[in-house]
Amino acid sequence: MSLVTHDPAERQTPAGPLTVLGIETSCDETAAAVVRGAAGRPSVPLSDIVFSQIEEHRAYGGVVPELAARAHIGRLGPVIEAALGTAGCGWDGLDGIAVTAGPGLIGGVLAGLMTAKGLAAARGLPLVPVNHLEGHLLSPRLAADLPFPYLALLISGGHCQLIAVAGLGRYQVWGSTIDDAAGEAFDKTAKLLELGFPGGPAVERAAQGGAPRRFALPRPLLGRDGMDFSFSGLKTAVLQTAQAEAPLDRQTTADLCASFQAAVADCLADRTRRAMASFADRFPEAQRCLAVVGGVAANQTIGTALARAAAEAGFSLVKPPLKLCTDNGAMIALAGLERLRAGAVPSLDAALAEPARARWPVTDLS
Ligand code: KG4
Ligand code: ZN
Repeated sequence: MSLVTHDPAERQTPAGPLTVLGIETSCDETAAAVVRGAAGRPSVPLSDIVFSQIEEHRAYGGVVPELAARAHIGRLGPVIEAALGTAGCGWDGLDGIAVTAGPGLIGGVLAGLMTAKGLAAARGLPLVPVNHLEGHLLSPRLAADLPFPYLALLISGGHCQLIAVAGLGRYQVWGSTIDDAAGEAFDKTAKLLELGFPGGPAVERAAQGGAPRRFALPRPLLGRDGMDFSFSGLKTAVLQTAQAEAPLDRQTTADLCASFQAAVADCLADRTRRAMASFADRFPEAQRCLAVVGGVAANQTIGTALARAAAEAGFSLVKPPLKLCTDNGAMIALAGLERLRAGAVPSLDAALAEPARARWPVTDLS
């Protein structure tokens, strides 16, 4: 059966502004947004709808992939309708549909990708399969005029990487975690301290009023060569400290969380300092900009540490607004829009054949 009713190749891509629907379902947020942008100006979200599945997963203390996939299927329709409704543009006002094709939990990615394929084919719109990490990397360009190249620190639940963003689709990974991602360390710490789900915001809340120097937790790889990260030893140290201090009263929990956050912040700032020095060497003509993206970028202590490191290195720090730090459809729409404008999109036939990918390194794009 062919779903193709119109050939997008026959559509005229307007020279003026482009309007793109973005769909994101790679983890536990069902998200859709409409973004509009013209060449030479930052693109803006016309809508940004995020349905968080926190309640579905809370009882399990983490994201359950099968539940996530089922919830995405149930929510996608209303979320997409709300995104179009808020944007005030009908299907005819769209120039394309962008969708996360990976990396992520495969059931969720499939739910979004299949929905987007059906919509693109039925409406005769170009379909842009987007790498979720590329969405995060480009997300600060939604809010600010941030020209290529720039340095990005991607800190999320699944990733912790220092990446030189040389241009659209041109990403050089300079450092990665050798074990846990920064967000994963927050999530595991929250779980072992029984602070609830989602872990990052729970640890940040619990750390309020805590003494960050009370517990001397390790700073793995601090001061070492290279730009890689390691967080699993830190998590183990939190566990051992919690066991030694048990039963934990409120103040001890606050002190432990504050000490944990301080250790993560020190590690991130140390590695990022090295990356800023490399960036200044390798891109001597470029503006010195550090973009901090991904869910952990929402953390205030980490933000303050990175802002200080950036200022010392003569870099300006760019962070998407809080709502765009965690998973959202707007960053996927933006990646799709930039790819459409650059002509870096597959034909509809090729896009309809795109697989959902659990793993998809950001260095494999073009
Ligand atoms: O980017 P994101 O929404 O999803 C992924 O692509 O992983 O990031 C989610 C991660 C989770 O690990 C969550 O605990 C963490 O970001 N996070 C935070 C905060 N808000 C979210 N970590 C620390 N402090 C926060 N305020
Ligand atoms: Zn993400």
